[in-house]
Amino acid sequence: MPASPSAHTALVTGASGGIGRAIAEEFARAGTNLVLSARSEATLNEIAADWRARYGVTVTVLPTDLSEPGAPAALAGRVVAAGIGIDYLVNNAGFGTFGLFAQTDLEATLGMLRVNIEALTELTHRFLPNILARRGRILNVASTASFQPGPYMAVYCASKAYVLSFSEALAAELGGTGVTVTALCPGATSSGFQERARMQSSGFLKRMRLATSDSVAAAGYQAMMAGRAVYIPGFANRLMVFSVRFAPRNMVAALSKRVLAPA
Ligand SMILES: NC(=O)c1ccc[n+]([C@@H]2O[C@H](COP(=O)([O-])OP(=O)(O)OC[C@H]3O[C@@H](n4cnc5c(N)ncnc54)[C@H](OP(=O)(O)O)[C@@H]3O)[C@@H](O)[C@H]2O)c1
Repeated sequence: MPASPSAHTALVTGASGGIGRAIAEEFARAGTNLVLSARSEATLNEIAADWRARYGVTVTVLPTDLSEPGAPAALAGRVVAAGIGIDYLVNNAGFGTFGLFAQTDLEATLGMLRVNIEALTELTHRFLPNILARRGRILNVASTASFQPGPYMAVYCASKAYVLSFSEALAAELGGTGVTVTALCPGATSSGFQERARMQSSGFLKRMRLATSDSVAAAGYQAMMAGRAVYIPGFANRLMVFSVRFAPRNMVAALSKRVLAPA
């Protein structure tokens, strides 16, 4: 049964699969109109047609490769040109690379920084005036990796530390404006992430039970709507994050190296 149509719109990046698609569906279920972005245009169009029919919401598809310089500005420009106001911004698009830093592909690594950090920062800056005017909310997808250095995923983990720090600071800056910023910090989650990162050999994955994208998205959506500054889904993940606070950083890095290393 579709919810009654709303005047609110959510822009979700990385909406073609995994956690982003599931977060976007939470909005659709609640009757919120959507702007979906990712590189996979055909997949986004299929999702859009399904949700228009199923949930009665307006869905606009704006395919974008956020690793391209200038892409966030172009995406924001297309939203404005379409006359769409944004109430909820979900900066979810992101990916990781697995392997020794010295051996990783530099272009892929720099592209990852553009998607995980630059695009998230630029989209937040460009949409913030609109979100402030509409007293909306921002959800940035960070990670449990935000809390610790991660050998074999050194740049990815550092990029997620940025997302957490940036989100917490912005949430504090925006206190009293009615706009909230939430950093969602999932642990290992079943999605396209592991294949893209080529991390099937990591001992970590062999030992972990992965959360589903749907459960992470539902928890993230609720945390955003409740205005939580930081939310870590799953008791085991919260325990892990809590315990590394008290350990020396070099010990945490050494332990992470053992955990993440190829099995
Ligand atoms: N899965 C995990 O274990 C885990 C844990 C903690 C945090 N996270 C974070 O959760 C977020 C979502 O990842 P996921 O697990 O759902 O992985 P996923 O299934 O691979 O989804 C990633 C999404 O980002 C999009 N994307 C990737 N590169 C892009 C680019 N250059 N430009 C625009 N969009 C791009 C992908 O779409 P296209 O391929 O169509 O572009 C896809 O929609 C990421 O920020 C990730 O770091 C994941």
